[in-house]
Amino acid sequence: MAGKTKVKKVGILTAGGDSPGLNAAIRGFGKTAIGAYGMELIGFRDGIRGLVEDRHIPLDGRALSGILTVGGTILGTSRDKVHKYVVDGETRDMVPTVVENYHRNGLDALIVLGGGGTAKNALKLVDAGLNVVHLPKTIDNDIAMTDTSFGFATAMEIATDAIDRVHSTAHSHHRIILTEIMGHRAGWLTLGAGLAGGADIILIPEIPYTVASVAGAVKARTKRGSNFSVVALAEGARDVDDSADYDAAMLLESSANTPEAKRAAKAHLAHVEDLQREHTFKLARDLEAATGLETRVTILGYVQRGGTPCAADRLLATRLGSTAAGLVARGEFGVMVAARGEGTEPVPLAEVAGKVRNVPVDHEWVTAARQVGVGLGD
Ligand code: F6P
Repeated sequence: MAGKTKVKKVGILTAGGDSPGLNAAIRGFGKTAIGAYGMELIGFRDGIRGLVEDRHIPLDGRALSGILTVGGTILGTSRDKVHKYVVDGETRDMVPTVVENYHRNGLDALIVLGGGGTAKNALKLVDAGLNVVHLPKTIDNDIAMTDTSFGFATAMEIATDAIDRVHSTAHSHHRIILTEIMGHRAGWLTLGAGLAGGADIILIPEIPYTVASVAGAVKARTKRGSNFSVVALAEGARDVDDSADYDAAMLLESSANTPEAKRAAKAHLAHVEDLQREHTFKLARDLEAATGLETRVTILGYVQRGGTPCAADRLLATRLGSTAAGLVARGEFGVMVAARGEGTEPVPLAEVAGKVRNVPVDHEWVTAARQVGVGLGD
C-alpha cells in the first residue's frame, strides 16, 4: 500500500569517483520509493553527463533486483561539473540545460549520490529551483557534516587486508615497506586501515612528517629487535616543506578573487602537485639512505574502490537510500542525508558543498595511534 505523496517521478544519478555501496544505495532508495510510495524512478547514465545529455534508463523493481552486492555503479559515473561543463574543449554552464531536461522528463525530484564536489553540483541545481536530495558516498570519508559515507568501510577493509599481507613479506625480508593508500586530501582511510592493520608508522596529510622522525621510528624498532617496518602512507601525506608549499598554493587558490587570478592560482597548485607526485618514492629513497634497510613501495590504488561492498557499507547505503525516499515523499529537498550515530539527519546542502572534513589532529584515532606507539612522523 503506497504512502501518501505528491511526488510521482524521480531521477537518480551517481557522480564523482565510484565507491562500493552505490548500487546498494540506488536499490535502497528505489525499493522504498517504488514499494512504499508508488513513485516512478529513472536513472541517468554517467553522472552529470547523462543529465546534460538526457540519457537515462527506467529503474523498476526488476532493474533494482540483484544489485545489492555488486561493486561500482550500474548507472556509470563521471567527474563532470554542471556549471563548468567541458564540451569540445570549451567550458560551459549547463544548469539551464539540466533544468530543461528535468522538466521535460516530468521529474518531481532528483537524487544525487556523490561526495563534496557532487554536493556543490547539487547546490547549483537547488539554486536553479530543482528538488534535490544528496547521499554521501566516498571511500575518503571526507564529506562535511556526516559521520561517515558509504564506500569508506569497504575501502578500509581492503587497505587493512593489504597491510596485513605486507607485514609478512616485510618481516621475511627485513625491509621497510611503504603502503600508499588513497584518501585524496584527507587521512581517514590511511589512519583507519593503518591502526586496524597494525602499521608501525602512519603518515597522513593532516600531520606533516620529517624524514628524520620516520627514520628515527624505524631505527628504534630495529634497536628493539624488529628489523622491518610497515608504513601506511596517505597519497596526500607530505613532509613539512612540501606541506608548506602545498598549503601556500591552496591558500592562493582560495583567496584569488578574479577569474584570471583563479586560473593562475589553479595552474600553480597543479604545478606544485606535479612536483610532489613522486613523494612516496622519494621518501622510500630517503629512508633507505637513513636507515640502511631495503625499502619498497606498494601503491594500493583503485583496488580500494572496486568490488563487493562490505556489510557495513551495504547497511549504511540501504539506510541512507531508504531515508532519502521518505524525505522526497514529504517534500524535504535541498539536503544531504547525513549519517549520525545509529540514525540519519537531513543537513542543508549549503553546509556541505565544496567542504572537506579532515582528520582533527587531536582526534581519538590519532591519540590511540600515539598511545599504542605508532610513529606519526612529527
Ligand atoms: O575520491 C575518491 C578517490 O579514490 C580519491 O581517494 C583519489 O584521490 C581519487 O578519487 C582518484 O580519482 P580518479 O578516479 O579521478 O583517478
